[in-house]
Amino acid sequence: MASAYPVHLVLVGPPGAGKGTQAVMLERELGLKQISSGDLFRENLKNQTELGQLAQAYMDRGELVPDNVTIAMVAERIQRSDCAKGVIFDGFPRTLEQAKALDEMLALQDSEIRLVPALVSSDEVVIDRMTGRRVCRNCGAVYQISYNPPKVEGVCDVCSGELYQRSDDSPETVRNRLYVYYKQTSPLIGYYFAKNLLVRVNADQPIDAVNQAMLQAVKVVIE
Ligand code: AP5
Repeated sequence: MASAYPVHLVLVGPPGAGKGTQAVMLERELGLKQISSGDLFRENLKNQTELGQLAQAYMDRGELVPDNVTIAMVAERIQRSDCAKGVIFDGFPRTLEQAKALDEMLALQDSEIRLVPALVSSDEVVIDRMTGRRVCRNCGAVYQISYNPPKVEGVCDVCSGELYQRSDDSPETVRNRLYVYYKQTSPLIGYYFAKNLLVRVNADQPIDAVNQAMLQAVKVVIE
């Protein structure tokens, strides 16, 4: 396969599988740009924008924000120069409509998705991970109280910011997010399999082992 940039990757997998954790590591390792639609919504929420206010009700219920709004937000974001080398899409696309829209957006830039690593994880593991997740209010760094704890409880290792629990990480919302994943997002597995882009990675391993498996998979398109 050709090695020319841009190299666009799409990470798929259930909530809590570790998409964000792995995307941040790959961003550092590969020099690509991570774009998380969930982070973009949370940023808008923090800044009390119209988009943030619209997204909040959906996020609190663990439902997807409507396609037209989400697609427009990502289409605008990928125009920026920091995406020139390639993007690690984290949490987008989440529906077939979003996947088709992404193909069209990239075609307009004369580029395409190069690989879709699918993080495969069991329901018990992702529920456990999400209920123990903590996020830095200041820099967004993500921790897990059992598997990836901060050095000092409640304090970010990176910037000393305060750690908080995402409101959609409550047990009831987590179950609904998983349900939404199976219903609306899991069809993407077939979509990308048909395009010969899918590579499955076992996400039920420690963070570094998943990272090694991801790098191994991505090497095929990056070298
Ligand atoms: P979003 O923020 O995208 O949430 P998500 O997909 O539900 O994914 P998560 O962030 O929960 O999990 P992750 O896979 O990134 O796991 P992480 O690395 O944090 O979306 C939130 C909401 O925004 C949606 O519900 C929806 O409302 C809206 N939204 C977003 N995108 C949208 C779209 N495209 N369309 C419509 N609506 C959209 O890891 C989880 C925890 O486990 C962490 O604590 C981490 O430290 C730990 N961990 C990670 N890997 C491991 C490991 N290998 N071993 C042990 N612990 C681990």
